[in-house]
Amino acid sequence: MQKSLSESGYDWASGRGALWRDKLDGMEALLAPVDMPLIEALALDLPCRIAEIACGGGGTTRAIAAAAPAGSEVTGFDISPDLVAAATARAGDVARFVEADVSTYRPDRPFDRLASRFGVMFFEDPAAAFANLRHWLAPGGRLAFAVWGPAAEVGFMAQLRATVASVMEVASADPDAPGPCRYGDPAKLIALLGAAGFEDTASRSVHCMLPVPGDTPEAAAAFLLASSSMAAPLADAPAELRERAHARLTEICSGHFEDGRVQMPARVEIVTAAG
Ligand SMILES: C[S@@+](CC[C@H](N)C(=O)[O-])C[C@H]1O[C@@H](n2cnc3c(N)ncnc32)[C@H](O)[C@@H]1O
Repeated sequence: MQKSLSESGYDWASGRGALWRDKLDGMEALLAPVDMPLIEALALDLPCRIAEIACGGGGTTRAIAAAAPAGSEVTGFDISPDLVAAATARAGDVARFVEADVSTYRPDRPFDRLASRFGVMFFEDPAAAFANLRHWLAPGGRLAFAVWGPAAEVGFMAQLRATVASVMEVASADPDAPGPCRYGDPAKLIALLGAAGFEDTASRSVHCMLPVPGDTPEAAAAFLLASSSMAAPLADAPAELRERAHARLTEICSGHFEDGRVQMPARVEIVTAAG
């Protein structure tokens, strides 16, 4: 039986979306280094219609709008009403935003470009979702999706998991279930896109340093523990365990503290395809 969004643990349309909105400045600062390679992969050479899939608070949507040739139209789509409201308030008139489940929604007209930064790993039925998204892309169009590489190569996630696992039992992650590192092997995503009818699929590994919000290792550790779904098992744990996890993660963050901030390495895959 298929799981509902909330059963999968990623209730983006409600609780998880609101949590992301509450941490929006920090999350967008953490992920901003991914925007440039993603936008380069879109090959924005002429004015065009661009959709950002699962745009969250719209940080990437605004970056795309700033990089696109004059006359382009940029629209962000997200399932979370809280994030669509935040994105709309932040973007002014540079982009518009639509609340929609992109796995089933059909826009009135196709787009010339589809982009996504870490938004395509949460579909309950990926084959059906990508088949639907195939209808979003105009003939001759192009998509670029940024997904995380293998969990062990995404520093802040690996360190968080190790930290939480050092103070309590943590269930091992199902690599095929909805979750951030589901396409850590990009061949899985490439196969899904090919089966959905996309052509010329390819992936490129990008290695970047991500700035964890917080002026001190203590603050960076607190941000990570409060923001990531990896830390969810800790939320209901006794205070003593949470304090031990914070102390352990602070120690790890201290080892990555340079020039006044914590920076952690990450491998990101930029997957591209044509319509
Ligand atoms: C990890 S966040 C990334 C947000 C944003 N792209 C960014 O990089 O800041 C994942 C996003 O996917 C959205 N999302 C998940 N499933 C979705 C769906 N079926 N339709 C639309 N948005 C979805 C969530 O609401 C959330 O904003």
